[in-house]
Amino acid sequence: MSRFESMVLQGTIEPTPLASIDWDRLGFSVIVTPYIGGSIALADGVFEHPVVVPNGMLAIPPLACVLNYGQGLFEGMKARRGADGKVRLFRVDANAARMARGAARFMLAVPSADLYRKTVTEVVQANADYVPPYGKGSLYIRPILAGVGATLSPVASDTTMFAVTTLPVGLRYKGTAMLKIKVEDRYQRAAAKGTGWVKAAGNYAPCFLPADEAKHEGYSDVLFLDQSGRFVEEVGTANFAMVKKGVLYVADSPSILPGITRDSIMRIAREMLGIEVVFGQLELDRVLGLGAYEGEGPADEAFCTGTAAVISPISDITWNGRTHHFGDEPGPIAARLYELLDGIQTGRVPDPYGWVTVLD
Ligand code: PLP
Ligand code: COI
Repeated sequence: MSRFESMVLQGTIEPTPLASIDWDRLGFSVIVTPYIGGSIALADGVFEHPVVVPNGMLAIPPLACVLNYGQGLFEGMKARRGADGKVRLFRVDANAARMARGAARFMLAVPSADLYRKTVTEVVQANADYVPPYGKGSLYIRPILAGVGATLSPVASDTTMFAVTTLPVGLRYKGTAMLKIKVEDRYQRAAAKGTGWVKAAGNYAPCFLPADEAKHEGYSDVLFLDQSGRFVEEVGTANFAMVKKGVLYVADSPSILPGITRDSIMRIAREMLGIEVVFGQLELDRVLGLGAYEGEGPADEAFCTGTAAVISPISDITWNGRTHHFGDEPGPIAARLYELLDGIQTGRVPDPYGWVTVLD
C-alpha cells in the first residue's frame, strides 16, 4: 500500500450523492466527491507513484508542521465540461509551476510537473460524474502541498503530502453579479518581502477578519493596498484590473499572487482583442481619478480576476468615506474578456495558446 493510501482513512467521509446535487443552484459550499489522489515524499524529497483512492479524512500527527507552523500551500484550478460533453483542464503546467515555486520557498518537497499533471488528471477522471453539465459550473480542483511530518522545532517537516481533492462549484460571488468593494487601509494582506506571492495557506486566514468586517458593512470584499498605501495590491482571493480610455491596467506587486487568470486575460486582450495592456504598479488614485489623475477621471471598468472569481466586475469602490461608482452592468471589455476566456476553457472558442487539455 502506498504511503498516501495509508494516510487516507477509509470510510470516514461519505460522498455527496450525485442525485442530491442541484446543478442549477451550485454555489461555493462543500460537496464531497468520491475520490482523492496524492503522493507522499519523505526526507529525500522523492514522491512515490501517485494513487487515486476513495475519499476520506487524512491522518496526520498533532505535531504536523502544517498544523503548527503553517508549512502548507495550495493551488486552485477548474475542470470544465464543454458543449461537446468533453472535460477540459486549463493551464495545468502554469499551476504546477506556481506550486513548485512556492514549495521551494516553503522547503517542501517539489512535485514535478508530471506528477502534478498525472494526479490532477486521474482525480478528475475518477470524479468525472461530478463535473457539472455545460454551462452549470465547474469541478474545482484543489491541489494541496503540506508538511505533515511531526516536528516540535520550527524547521521544515521531513514528510511532504501532495493531495488533490475536487468539488463541483458555481460562482464564488453568489448572487452578487457586480461587486461592491471596500478599500482596506487598516490591514495589509502581505509584507513587502514576505510570501504574498506564494499561494500559502497562511496568507488567507489573516484576511478572514477584514473580509468579514466588510461583508457586515454590506461590501462583497476588500481591496488591499501596499505598504505605502498608494498602490493597489489585490482582493483577498483575486487580482485587480481596470480599464481606462480603452487601456487595460493590471495591478502587480511583489507581494501579491501572480494569477494565472490575470496572465491569460492580458494575453487575450493584447493578442485577440488588440488592446493595450499596462502591467505593473497601479495607483489607487489612478483607479479612482483622484490627485494627479483627477484630469483623466476614474476607471471606465474595474474587475477582479481569479480561478474562482473568473472575471468579476466591480460596480463600486469605497474609500475614505466616498463611493466611486463604475456602472451597474459589466463593462464591454470585461464582458468580452469573460466571453473569450470562458470560451477557450469550455472549447467554444479555439485555443490558440495550448492552454487546454482535453481529457478522455
Ligand atoms: N490572488 C489571490 C490571493 C488568490 O487567492 C487568487 C486565486 O487563486 C488569485 C489572486 C488569482 O489567481 P488565479 O488567477 O491563478 O486563480
Ligand atoms: C482560486 O481562485 O482558486 C482560489 O484559490 C481562491 C479561493 C481562496 C477561493
